[in-house]
Amino acid sequence: MEFKENGNAEIDNWQTTMLLYNSALKEVGTKLEILNDEFQHIHQYNPIEHIKSRIKSPESIVRKLRNKGLESTIDNMVQYVNDIAGIRVICSFTSDIYRIAEMLSNQSDLRVLSVKDYIENPKESGYKSYHMIVSVPIYLSDSVVDTKVEIQIRTVAMDFWASLEHKMNYKFEKNAPEHIKRQLYECAQMVSVLDDMMLSLNEEIQEAQSEEE
Ligand code: GTP
Ligand code: MG
Repeated sequence: MEFKENGNAEIDNWQTTMLLYNSALKEVGTKLEILNDEFQHIHQYNPIEHIKSRIKSPESIVRKLRNKGLESTIDNMVQYVNDIAGIRVICSFTSDIYRIAEMLSNQSDLRVLSVKDYIENPKESGYKSYHMIVSVPIYLSDSVVDTKVEIQIRTVAMDFWASLEHKMNYKFEKNAPEHIKRQLYECAQMVSVLDDMMLSLNEEIQEAQSEEE
């Protein structure tokens, strides 16, 4: 993959850039694990079911830049591609999503660059998830570089839905049959009902538990 070198002395080459994104994934991953452990310690339950992270492939970085009408330079990718480092946090309950997002936002070394709440405002397809672009400082031997990470936070049910919808889009590209899109949209509504019911059942169970204690 051909990437042109840029004039930025801090981020001078492909290897350093990838090192930064990998480090940023580790930093945010550790922050999330610590929050989860502390939560377990205080409330006796884990808000996080599991965490998946990935680095975007050079091919898809180039594709994204091309779609934006931009040349494949390291400068452009650092500036315009926000999801090179991506981390997906899967929670049990919708309330956990907002809890995690808030706890992260309150950390002084993490900067929230943007938030898209597709739970409050689902996409037309029915897609629901909470997205944040954050930046974390990465300490290298002689410099500190703020590095972006895309965080997607969703419930198990939202994740199940998004995987199937992603598969449909991959398979049919932009031409998915109407009946499949419609049924997936109906599934998205069921996911919302399921998430709401599971949340209120969990609250009821927890209340009953605390009355016993
Ligand atoms: P990109 O989608 O990354 O080009 O940026 P954007 O500005 O459109 O951001 P958005 O927050 O809408 O989407 C970011 C990521 O969320 C995507 O790369 C997907 O991983 C995921 N995503 C967004 N919309 C959908 C959707 O409708 N279905 C599925 N399955 N995933 C989605
Ligand atoms: Mg998008």
